[in-house]
Amino acid sequence: MMLPRRRRARVEDTGNFFEVHFPGVAIYLAEPRMGRSRRAFLTRLARSKGFHVLDAYSSAVTHVVMEQTSAEEAICWQESRAALAPGCARPALLDISWFTESMAAGQPVPVESRHCLEEAVPRKRLPGPVRMPPYACQRSTPLTHHNTSLWEALEVLAEAAGFEGREGCLLAFCRAASVLKALPCQVTALSQLQGLPHFGEHSRRVVQELLDRGVCEEVERVRLSERYQSMKLFTQIFGVGVRTADRWYREGLRTLDDIQGQVQRLTEQQKAGLQHHQDLCTPVQRPDAEALQQVVETAVAQALPGATVTLAGGFRRGKLQGHDVDLLITHPQEGQEAGLLPRVLCSLKQQVRAAPPEGAAGSCPPRAWTVPIMLPPPPPTPQGLVLYQQHQLSRSRDPTHLTQRSHTMDTFERSFCIFRLPRPPGAAWKAVRVDLVVAPISQFPFALLGWTGSKHFERELRQFSRKEKGLWLNSHGLFDPEQKTLFRAAAEEDIFRHLGLAYLPPEQRNA
Ligand code: CTP
Ligand code: MN
Ligand code: MN
Repeated sequence: MMLPRRRRARVEDTGNFFEVHFPGVAIYLAEPRMGRSRRAFLTRLARSKGFHVLDAYSSAVTHVVMEQTSAEEAICWQESRAALAPGCARPALLDISWFTESMAAGQPVPVESRHCLEEAVPRKRLPGPVRMPPYACQRSTPLTHHNTSLWEALEVLAEAAGFEGREGCLLAFCRAASVLKALPCQVTALSQLQGLPHFGEHSRRVVQELLDRGVCEEVERVRLSERYQSMKLFTQIFGVGVRTADRWYREGLRTLDDIQGQVQRLTEQQKAGLQHHQDLCTPVQRPDAEALQQVVETAVAQALPGATVTLAGGFRRGKLQGHDVDLLITHPQEGQEAGLLPRVLCSLKQQVRAAPPEGAAGSCPPRAWTVPIMLPPPPPTPQGLVLYQQHQLSRSRDPTHLTQRSHTMDTFERSFCIFRLPRPPGAAWKAVRVDLVVAPISQFPFALLGWTGSKHFERELRQFSRKEKGLWLNSHGLFDPEQKTLFRAAAEEDIFRHLGLAYLPPEQRNA
């Protein structure tokens, strides 16, 4: 579209004159994620089409365009500019999509909300000091929050401390990170941390550096270190904990290939973990978790009519993906659930509906021969839906195990498995980690609370019980060590009430 001649103007920028067709629009391409050469290219392109592009940021800018930039980053960026030019009208913060659409149209397209970076984030700021109780179980922590990049940085430091066995340090960073998740707004100044619990000197320094410079040197150093990367890689393998990973590292092992080379030393669990590593590193999506739940439900109903299967773990907290599927099994009649798991697994092993046609399998062991196309389908694999299982019998039916203070591991009958994700016949399958846990109905609310997580939420809840209430909580029950009594609960709500806590639904336990 040609505009009337009188609206055209010539504008000077850094010594050059450009014809401007759209005088109401002055674009500034913000460089951080764009890079210098791409910015120069886009500038030339826009100017050739009659757009006014400013090389320097000033109060004349009406449209700021950013690429691969999160809303938080964009707002941070704008705030730093606003500090330099106070009182100026704020330009629109736009995603590159507005720019490319405008270039294609040959004129500025109307700004829609999908182009706007800042609309993704509520504009509220911390009004003043936020009151926050010290334990994560005393406050709501939703799944999504307003401080992703600060939180991520502290998580890296927590993880790294865990790799070094520095438990105190790990806890300190976890607590600070968890406080950030519970804040109602984005932190843009260090002063906003005033009065918040668990922000020690170290965590404040990290936040300060991130607010000032966008990166924290210590965090970047850790992230790039060989130690952190190897430890992360190793501990991601099913069956590998920090102690094993550390031993491997000290022996000079660094990569998955190095581990493969030592296969004779691996446990069966670790072998299975390595064999299906790629699949297990790919997040499980919610529909897949629900499909697996259904498959298990069917097998459970066959093995014991009336038994129920509940999706716990991250999916119960509203997560859309996770590293595994946590399923909790019970039966309304106490004692009926005993010995159920082997029968369920046996039935799942015989399910072949989802067995793949040869060659379609994602992580099937490679075959030395290929199947001629016209042969009938091969016999079903004997493992059926279960690629790996490690069954752990209930360690004790004796109720004294309920009363041991130091029980972090529960003693339910359970199985850590790898399942073949059921898919339509012919489709490639995927290996998925599944945790199956069987709880007697009398302990079910405690088991559900314990297996819903998050891990940090559970840790805080147990500590709160012990330190503040003198009660010992685990996935089996709540024990009063003075009275020597066990507290009974019919639902999770009863447990919160007994601890004097406001009930938090699973979606608010993402601490
Ligand atoms: N849990 C447990 N005992 C174990 C393993 C896990 O009590 N041996 C509990 C954890 O404390 C956590 C819950 O089970 O509260 C779920 O653990 P996990 O599957 O590891 O984490 P999720 O929160 O489900 O995260 P993801 O989505 O990545 O699976
Ligand atoms: Mn899980
Ligand atoms: Mn799990």
